[in-house]
Amino acid sequence: MRSTRIRCCSRPAGSANPFSLATPSTPASQGFSYPDGVRPADIRHVGVVGSGLMGSGIVEVCARAGLRVTFVEGSEELVATGLGRIEGSIGNAVERGKLDAAAAQDALGRIDGSTELQALADVDLVIEAATEDRAAKAAIFDTLGRVTRSEIVLASNTSSIPIGELAAASGRPGNVIGMHFFNPPPVMTLLELTPSDATTEETFALVRDFGTHVLGKTCVRSGDQAGFIVNRLLIPYLFDAIRLYESGFASREDIDTAMHLGLAHPMGPLTLSDLIGLDTLLAIGDVLRDAFPGDPRYEAPALLRDLVARGRLGQKTGGGFTDG
Ligand code: CAA
Repeated sequence: MRSTRIRCCSRPAGSANPFSLATPSTPASQGFSYPDGVRPADIRHVGVVGSGLMGSGIVEVCARAGLRVTFVEGSEELVATGLGRIEGSIGNAVERGKLDAAAAQDALGRIDGSTELQALADVDLVIEAATEDRAAKAAIFDTLGRVTRSEIVLASNTSSIPIGELAAASGRPGNVIGMHFFNPPPVMTLLELTPSDATTEETFALVRDFGTHVLGKTCVRSGDQAGFIVNRLLIPYLFDAIRLYESGFASREDIDTAMHLGLAHPMGPLTLSDLIGLDTLLAIGDVLRDAFPGDPRYEAPALLRDLVARGRLGQKTGGGFTDG
């Protein structure tokens, strides 16, 4: 196993996990309990698969919540890139006065990266945040089902792929759940949880209370169909905005300004598409198109396919619909 230790991994004083079993929303009051022997406060070490835009943000959220995090990438180079992204984001938080320098060092000290899924053998929870590719994710869940401890929850940050597909690949479907974060994960407070038909209520309760009390997110529960709640609604909106722009009906700036100011959205749809990443947007759209054949709302606009083919993937490549 190759593992890159970034900094000393001690838990600092004062970084105690904020979860308390005395909180009023313990699942006992809702008629079900946690999986045998595992409570939210027992999740001290999280494994994250992938360190792209979402993976690195999830690593940051977990490390800043006082947890140890091991992330896994496909090569040493990608581990280094992921680390750079996490360090840059945590550094920005310090510069903006959101985090003091000592807390930032402590958070970074809780993170290590590896190129092997085997490095997750001892973690208490895995959140998979690899590329939005069915076969790749299924292969990861197959391996995770074999290398991790049998009682832990395996979660996926997939934005569109039904959880039942990944659960089947893992060999322990009761422990598999969708745990969908939003970009940028350190800022966005929603956590969209998707149990499959096979996910136990104990697994759901554990992840819901971990997300709420340890990570400080607001959880919603979605049915297990492609796109879940948010992307079922968001993708047709973004695709329509791209089609409107493509048709010459209005300029990019005017479409974005109209939705930003007219509906008080934090950003217009074309800027938001660039933030999400045009390749990711296209991949989500294709999963939805396959899941709901014949529904024109999920057909990706030609302009989106063209931009992706030309390598203009949005903010991460310095240009998409916008140039920033
Ligand atoms: N990491 C951490 N913090 C960040 C950040 C990042 N990448 N980007 C911005 N922030 C912080 C800023 O520091 C700032 O914090 P304070 O207000 O506390 O100072 C705050 O967010 C606002 O940032 P800015 O003032 O720089 O810019 P802004 O007001 O335009 O906000 C934004 C930026 C938070 C991204 C905001 O525009 C926004 O909320 N946009 C919509 C984002 C969105 O819809 N995300 C969901 C995408 S869909 C998805 O992710 C799911 C999927 O499956 C596709």
